[in-house]
Amino acid sequence: MKTIKDLDIAGKKVFFRVDFNVPLDEHQNITDDARIRAVLPTLQYALDHQAKLIVGSHMGRPGGKAVPELSLAPVAKRLGRLLGKEVIMTKDCVGSETSELLSNMKQGDVVLLENLRYHPEEQNNDDTFAKKLVELCDVYINDAFAVSHRINASVVAITKYAPVCAAGFLLQKELDYFKQAMANPMRPLVAIVGGSKVSDKLGALENMLEHVDKFLIGGAMANTFLKCSGHNVGKSRVEEDLKEVACAVMTMAAEKGIKFYLPIDAVVASRFDPKAEIKIVPVQEIPNDWMVMDIGPATSLLYSEALYDAKTIVWNGPLGVFEMDAFSRGTIAMVHNVANSYALSIVGGGDTDVALHKTGAMDRITYVSTGGGAFLTLLEGKTLPAVAALDAVNHKVS
Ligand code: 3PG
Repeated sequence: MKTIKDLDIAGKKVFFRVDFNVPLDEHQNITDDARIRAVLPTLQYALDHQAKLIVGSHMGRPGGKAVPELSLAPVAKRLGRLLGKEVIMTKDCVGSETSELLSNMKQGDVVLLENLRYHPEEQNNDDTFAKKLVELCDVYINDAFAVSHRINASVVAITKYAPVCAAGFLLQKELDYFKQAMANPMRPLVAIVGGSKVSDKLGALENMLEHVDKFLIGGAMANTFLKCSGHNVGKSRVEEDLKEVACAVMTMAAEKGIKFYLPIDAVVASRFDPKAEIKIVPVQEIPNDWMVMDIGPATSLLYSEALYDAKTIVWNGPLGVFEMDAFSRGTIAMVHNVANSYALSIVGGGDTDVALHKTGAMDRITYVSTGGGAFLTLLEGKTLPAVAALDAVNHKVS
């Protein structure tokens, strides 16, 4: 894949599509700036090579209109602080005022465009909008891994019109780590899959049947699998319509010699509420009118033993309702198990990295992806549309 390193960017206006869709609190304070920090190497490289930096991103889902709460203004401030220089913010990502500002840029200037999704054309992958964006620049760099699974104008259509296109260091790194884990892994390769719905993870589970040696299953999706194994899961959420498919996944895993671990005990609650009555029970003894909220301590121990010989670990999705402290222990224990392992460990998926941030064990995980949906798309064995678009145009050129 062609990267920014292959280009001469000195004195040029370089448009960086990044994903600064960071979480904000009710006062628009950034609560986690990992996605901003993740592109600093690319932006710093461009500054060191005398480029003029135009940075574009979406924030949230404003639905094609200006929503002040979803402005990138807080990001401009944080980015300025991290880069140690002024970041100029535009009122709109396109239009005459923005064009004028950009035409007066000097080497080393950094301009952050306002939320691309204020325009409905962005999510419609609109060609005219893509052309307007590239009119602003000499070079286009995609460093927005986390939105590369979307067919949006600033990551897909834009590649048809940009004079020169390449990937940034983050996009390259995400793809490289993923390949290292899934294409030619050191074995055993263990997949930890959690989250609330089998339906969200089915494509990933089916694809991973071709790659992994063990599955460790958690989260509410484990209930559907437990039902396949004949357990009563009380009033826990179960996707009855997917029971058959879930059973088929387990059968296929068995046929392929893949070890398929399910929880052996659970933290159950009388209702979906952190203040509800809670108890820990073996999965054989889940009471009829209680619901599973987390994996239990015996499962944590079992899963830590199952990870003992792992050489590669890929993890997507929390193992319980971790946003409620009372039900976060299983996920937190797993973070420590993964962090303590000697395996190459890759964790991805929005919620999973929130759990990691809570524990402070980030540094001991080999790689934490910035992608949620994009990471899951890769786990499903699919190519990211934005990456395909970049490859297509560079293939044509060379
Ligand atoms: C994400 O947070 O996963 C990306 O920024 C993509 O956002 P989207 O799901 O709103 O397209």
